[in-house]
Amino acid sequence: MDLYIGLLGCGTVGAGVVSLVRRRAGKVADMTGSRPVVKTILVRDTTKDRGVPFEHERLTTNPDDVLHDDAIQVVVETIGGIEPAKTYILEALKRKKHVVTANKDLIAVHGPEILRVAAENRVSVLFEAAVGGAIPLVGPLKENLTANEVTDLKGIINGTTNFILSEMTARHIDFEEALAMAQELGYAEADPSSDVDGLDAARKLVILSSIGFQTQVHLSDVRVEGIRHITATDVRYADELGYVIKLLAVGRDRGGELTLAVRPTLIPKVHPLAHVSDAYNALYVRGDAAGDLMFFGRGAGRMPTASAVVGDIISLIRNLKLGYVVSSPNGGAATTKPVVDREDERYKYYFRLLAQDQPGVFASIAQLFGENHASMETVLQKRVRGSCAEIVIVTHDISSSKARRMIADLKALEHLHAVECVMPVEPVAE
Ligand SMILES: NC(=O)c1ccc[n+]([C@@H]2O[C@H](COP(=O)([O-])OP(=O)(O)OC[C@H]3O[C@@H](n4cnc5c(N)ncnc54)[C@H](OP(=O)(O)O)[C@@H]3O)[C@@H](O)[C@H]2O)c1
Repeated sequence: MDLYIGLLGCGTVGAGVVSLVRRRAGKVADMTGSRPVVKTILVRDTTKDRGVPFEHERLTTNPDDVLHDDAIQVVVETIGGIEPAKTYILEALKRKKHVVTANKDLIAVHGPEILRVAAENRVSVLFEAAVGGAIPLVGPLKENLTANEVTDLKGIINGTTNFILSEMTARHIDFEEALAMAQELGYAEADPSSDVDGLDAARKLVILSSIGFQTQVHLSDVRVEGIRHITATDVRYADELGYVIKLLAVGRDRGGELTLAVRPTLIPKVHPLAHVSDAYNALYVRGDAAGDLMFFGRGAGRMPTASAVVGDIISLIRNLKLGYVVSSPNGGAATTKPVVDREDERYKYYFRLLAQDQPGVFASIAQLFGENHASMETVLQKRVRGSCAEIVIVTHDISSSKARRMIADLKALEHLHAVECVMPVEPVAE
């Protein structure tokens, strides 16, 4: 029996879905008795070359050809963004169609509403591709690890910024040059703000935390800092000190209180996350029974993302056979966990300061660190720009609130021109 799919959007991911569904259809039919067939595809321009030959699939610019077709049981959304994707998905659910989506923007912000409408209509919504491309993250957190209290989620979940930081490290180039390379290679969009300002990683952290910590997390709960201010100088100092800089997404559950952050972080070169380069993604998960797990792989791209989407389609077909509906991301957990900006989290901190190169200036900086009981692990006094000296300090562990207070105090110091960059340092092993 054929199981008809309506595809909304046929760009990078959608075209991959068309070819992978075709490739796997026979095997899925053998396994489940249902052969997935893409029946209708919604696009804006039906004449465009999409890199896949269309056979029996019908291309249309009218969404009703998918949404109002009673033969279509599964709608796959690969348009992206909020609208019209949200309207189409809600319409599909209300018409009792199951939905698979790769849309992290939509799930991170409107996930609860979409899941509620799916539950009301007794249909499934699956979104493995929304986080980590090919890497199975949603499934393991939702299914395989449910015997655990997940306490930590930590990872590199934005390929664009990881590519940019990797290029800055390998080629000793500045942010702007690395960004231009990423745009040329198609890793970054013309407007890269969602990636480089950390929003994309924050959205993914919202999805992962809601599932992993079994609660409902909102985008505004995440403290977000991007990578625009990271310079080739910071990358070089980090290298000299034995670190690499990565945009790290961190979620922690400490006794039912969550902390959520996306920020550039110094990672020791011996740490496994330091070796996650280019557009690869990786996520560490700590569960009270499972211990530490690390997931690694391609976080984006046509076929890696199609792998996750088509995996969801096949799960859906299996579930349909069993009469099983999946619409809740966290087993319907009713708990609400407070998200706190924990003042007492302790890290080493990297400070890069620009100061007047004259006697007594370093002494006043050292005094300020002393008064704050922030002992220095490493100090570098480097290149002199005109009459300025660059001072890099890595502290021993201090609380985040103290680091914030010290930035304000440093800015008030006479002869200190700028606090140019401050980043936490990830410990080798907790
Ligand atoms: N690209 C990746 O590696 C990747 C990885 C993980 C997740 N995702 C997610 O997957 C989704 C799709 O990404 P993508 O890279 O495949 O995007 P894309 O290449 O820009 O493709 C978008 C498709 O949607 C169609 N479309 C856009 N607006 C439409 C509208 N108003 N009505 C009908 N069709 C419309 C476009 O049609 P035309 O072609 O006719 O213009 C195009 O075929 C996004 O949610 C993204 O976040 C992507």
